[in-house]
Amino acid sequence: MVYVYSNFAYMIITLAVAVTIIITTLHYIVIGASKVPLRANNQVIQRFSLAERVLHWIRMLSFIIVSASGTYLIFREGGKNIGMLHSINGILFLAMSLTILILWYKQYTFTEYDRDWLRYLGGYLSKEHGSHPAGKFNAGQKIFFWLTMVFTGILSITGSILMKSKISQVSVNESVLAVHGISAVFVIVLVMGHVYLSLVANPGTWRVLVSGKVTKEWVDYHHPRWGIDSKKSKIKI
Ligand code: HEM
Repeated sequence: MVYVYSNFAYMIITLAVAVTIIITTLHYIVIGASKVPLRANNQVIQRFSLAERVLHWIRMLSFIIVSASGTYLIFREGGKNIGMLHSINGILFLAMSLTILILWYKQYTFTEYDRDWLRYLGGYLSKEHGSHPAGKFNAGQKIFFWLTMVFTGILSITGSILMKSKISQVSVNESVLAVHGISAVFVIVLVMGHVYLSLVANPGTWRVLVSGKVTKEWVDYHHPRWGIDSKKSKIKI
C-alpha cells in the first residue's frame, strides 16, 4: 500500500473522483431523483437549528479548502503557504467535527427500524423510490456521520504526526503519509456521495442549510418516524 500510494497518489485521487462522478451520473440517469422534492412553500418544520446550520457551513467550507489544498499538494510539491492553509483548515474541520459529535451524537444512534431502511437501501436502487422507515436521520445518514467521524480521527492523528515531522525537519514517514492520503480519498468520495444525495438526488434539500425548515410532505416521505420518535422522547420538532 505504501509503495502504491507513494508512486501513484495522483492516479488514485483522480480515479476515485472520476469513478464517483460516473456512478452518481449513472444513478441519476437510470434511477433518477426523488419524486418528493423540498419546495420553497409551507416550510413549517424546523429541521436544522441556527447552530446546526452554522457548524455545518464551517465544517463544509473547511472540508472544501482542506481537500483542495491536499489535492494540490499531491500534484505539486506545495509551497509553505498551501501547507499552512491545509493544516489550519484541517484543525478547523477537526474542531467542528468534535463539536458536532459532542452536541448531537445521540441523533445518530441506530434504532431497530434502521435495518428495514438498509434492507432496501432507502429505495435508492429502485425507480419507485418509496418511503422507508427513518427518524430524523435515516440509516444511510447515520452510517455517513459515523464514518466521517472515524476518518476525521485517523486524518487528525496522521496529520499531526506529519505536521510534527515537518516542523522538526525529520523525513516524512511514508506509511503515515499513505494512511493519511488514502483516508482522505475515502472521505472525499463519501462527501461527494453526500453532496450528490443532498443536492441532486433529493432536490431542494439544500434548503435545510439555508432556512433550516422543511415541509410536512417532505418529512412524511423521507423521515416518516421523526415525529413519532420526537413525541416518544418529548422532543419538539
Ligand atoms: C461540500 C458540500 C456539502 C453540501 C452541499 C452538504 C449538504 C447537506 C445538506 C443539504 C444536508 C441536510 C440533509 C438533510 O436534512 O437530510 C446535510 C447534512 C449533513 N451533512 Fe452535509 N453537505 C456538504 C458537506 C458536508 C461535509 C464535508 C460533511 C462532513 C464531513 C457533512 C456532513 C453532514 C452530516 C453529518 C449531515 C447530517 C446527516 C446527513 O444528512 O447525512 N456535509 N449536508
